[in-house]
Amino acid sequence: MSTILVTGGAGYIGSHAVLALKNAGYEVIVLDNLSNGRRELVEDVLQVKLIVGDLSDRSLLDDIFSTYNITAVMHFAAYIAVGESVTDPAKYYQNNVAGTLTLLKAMLAASVNKFIFSSTCALYGVPKFVLLTEEHPQDPISPYATSKWMVERILSDFDTAYNLKSVRFRYFNAAGADTNGLLGEERDRRPGDPPILVGSSDKATKILGWHPEYPNLNEIIAHAWQWHHNINNS
Ligand SMILES: NC(=O)c1ccc[n+]([C@@H]2O[C@H](COP(=O)([O-])OP(=O)(O)OC[C@H]3O[C@@H](n4cnc5c(N)ncnc54)[C@H](O)[C@@H]3O)[C@@H](O)[C@H]2O)c1
Repeated sequence: MSTILVTGGAGYIGSHAVLALKNAGYEVIVLDNLSNGRRELVEDVLQVKLIVGDLSDRSLLDDIFSTYNITAVMHFAAYIAVGESVTDPAKYYQNNVAGTLTLLKAMLAASVNKFIFSSTCALYGVPKFVLLTEEHPQDPISPYATSKWMVERILSDFDTAYNLKSVRFRYFNAAGADTNGLLGEERDRRPGDPPILVGSSDKATKILGWHPEYPNLNEIIAHAWQWHHNINNS
């Protein structure tokens, strides 16, 4: 069974991806610097191997790729605060762009060519029409969004030049919690995000057969509430 390297797997979305990968029978290794992630999620709840380290550490990355038989990388590690990216853009370009470039170069050196990237709907900027599709013009308005846009451009060039294959998911704001109450999140609204963004899921439905398992907002909130209730009473 192939081993998947999950960067940022101690964070909100990454930890849910690790759970799904585990449930699907994959071997998983998490690389996370714990700047925003939680060690106990990976080690105690998910019980997968956690390597505490940074994307920018090329020798650590080389060690990981030479030690484990990694067939694909799912890349969640990034700084994510839109407002902070406006006041400290260097931090965002360094981590989200330069860090990702270091990871991609280590993958090329190890002949790993499958990359799944956590992009963002924020690269569309202020919506010009309501139901957003991939045809919407890209006009990022924050350094955070621009950092994701830049990585998407890098990925196109790396595909052409080095045959590095990628999938880029432009997530809209994730919400809710694992239905079994194992994993969760639910912070305050992030400053800098547009008040309302509505994405079209038509393409995912057509190509992947995807449909939302929990389309009801009340149910999403109930799962998050249950998780908060569990951790506050444990
Ligand atoms: N949460 C959302 O609604 C949302 C929406 C769109 C896109 N995204 C993207 O999805 C990804 C995951 O988001 P999230 O909400 O789970 O964020 P998160 O902060 O919970 O998770 C990110 C994880 O990456 C780790 N990390 C950051 N920089 C690192 C580095 N240099 N080396 C190693 N680890 C590092 C952090 O410790 C954290 O555990 C991010 O790339 C984010 O930009 C999230």
